Amino acid sequence: MPDLLNVGLIGLGVMGQRMLARLAQHPRLRAARVWDADPAALARTLAAFPALQPADSAEALIASPDLHTLYIATPPAPHMVLSNRAFDAGLAVFCEKPLTVDFDAARRTIARIAAEGHRAAVNFSLASSPGLAALQAAVQGGIGTPQAVQIALAFAAWPRPWQAAAGAWLAERAEGGFTREVLSHFIFVLQRLLGPAQVLQSAPDYPADGRSAERALTATLQAGGVPVQVQAAVTGAVDDFNRFLLQGSTGAVELRDWFGLQRRQADGSWLGDGDPAALRQRGQADQLDQWVALIEGRPHSLPGFAEALAVQETIEALLAGQAPAA
Ligand SMILES: NC(=O)c1ccc[n+]([C@@H]2O[C@H](COP(=O)([O-])OP(=O)(O)OC[C@H]3O[C@@H](n4cnc5c(N)ncnc54)[C@H](O)[C@@H]3O)[C@@H](O)[C@H]2O)c1
Repeated sequence: MPDLLNVGLIGLGVMGQRMLARLAQHPRLRAARVWDADPAALARTLAAFPALQPADSAEALIASPDLHTLYIATPPAPHMVLSNRAFDAGLAVFCEKPLTVDFDAARRTIARIAAEGHRAAVNFSLASSPGLAALQAAVQGGIGTPQAVQIALAFAAWPRPWQAAAGAWLAERAEGGFTREVLSHFIFVLQRLLGPAQVLQSAPDYPADGRSAERALTATLQAGGVPVQVQAAVTGAVDDFNRFLLQGSTGAVELRDWFGLQRRQADGSWLGDGDPAALRQRGQADQLDQWVALIEGRPHSLPGFAEALAVQETIEALLAGQAPAA
């Protein structure tokens, strides 16, 4: 592989722009070619990043002989079609979560990846985080026996203000909502730590219009024999927050607001572990390094499509609702 690895990007909305900014800081990954179904998004991107080459279509971008990898940041519906076209062209794929809302297409794609040896990963931003590493160490004995997990999320508004420019899909039940967008990151962490989760009870609260995404969700799950409580809501009142608390027989570790990390001391008090901004920077830089490893066919810590589908199966079960067992 050459030193510089050329990235093609499809989907130039909120995430596409964020990834372009991050790629500009990376020594080995170079954003090369771009495409978006919306000509205005393509034009805005070329104005901001004049060195990029626009494609005439997704097919034309994927067929460009100078690319090493494809980054997909469209809404979920086209993820599988675009991934398969990229595999046809021999490209490594880095796809945004959620993997898909079409499980059959995802299963066919996962079988193809295994049979043909394609390189594919999904962008769960906590996959390379120091927080996940700390939780893994905790599960392996650092806090005794894992006893309980609590996941709590709150949103002042949905979509969040920084997503105001995203498409309508984000606020709609078919593809959007905070359970797919945000809770999925923590279900990914949960399942990587403790294995597959079973939904024991779930109560999503949907608006009466039949179209809009959930406004609240409470649920009980079990993963690796450990009980898991989820409480999430668009409250309109409090500032956004998220936390993932793992309690063990001799200690506890908590992820706070994505990359923040704290540990419970023997006296019951909590102590922050590292500066959250520095931990975020480290996690994001490492994630791009892991993408390089994926492209080069080396071992990496990014979730593959099968791991991402397992997350999505749990997420869709939560969204479908489940009455408590009688
Ligand atoms: N990993 C994370 O932390 C994270 C955070 C936010 C969003 N996301 C995910 O990133 C993806 C994109 O989200 P977003 O917030 O950028 O959405 P967005 O609506 O801002 O942007 C999506 C873009 O894709 C384009 N598009 C739609 N269909 C297309 C197609 N078939 N071909 C080419 N372009 C197409 C749209 O025109 C739009 O410009 C979603 O899957 C979302 O869940 C991930």
